[in-house]
Amino acid sequence: MPDSAAPNSPDSDAPIGVLFVCLGNICRSPLAEGVFRHKAARRGAARRFDIDSAGTGGWHAGELADPRMRETAMRRGVTLESRARQIVDADFDRFHHILCMDDDNLDRVRTAGAPFDRTRLLLDVVPEGAHRTVPDPYYGGGGGFELVYALVDLACDRWLEQWLNGGRPGPDRAAR
Ligand code: 4NP
Repeated sequence: MPDSAAPNSPDSDAPIGVLFVCLGNICRSPLAEGVFRHKAARRGAARRFDIDSAGTGGWHAGELADPRMRETAMRRGVTLESRARQIVDADFDRFHHILCMDDDNLDRVRTAGAPFDRTRLLLDVVPEGAHRTVPDPYYGGGGGFELVYALVDLACDRWLEQWLNGGRPGPDRAAR
């Protein structure tokens, strides 16, 4: 499939495929999946999206999200139910948007063959923020999970707004 051809044409009624990617798929990307699901459902738009998450690594496959991440989400009324899995080649055909938490994730996904124009950093839509990537909270303290939540929450609001309004992703940082 050429890069310019999304899995489904933009004007089709098929859901918009969104895959959130991090390293282990137990902290950042399952949070993004859960937060985006929650926000889409609250807008009555759950059926307009095919939402999932995956890790570039497979060490935690089959596990629920990290308890610290689930607790942080639960305090905001967001339940994380996904089980970790490693990204597979079929994801590159299935999803219109592959949103990565950091540069390592982005490089690995692109190197593995994901179309360049469908792979982005999650925080590309938060150009004014102090963070351009979502820091890995796994080995840090609880504050890291709060920061991850705040970044993911804002980015999901912006992506959702753009997709529901039919616009293209943006505002954007300079091309990199
Ligand atoms: P995540 O965090 O990529 O946000 O899920 C991590 C989870 C596990 C590990 C690293 C990061 N790990 O090394 O096992």
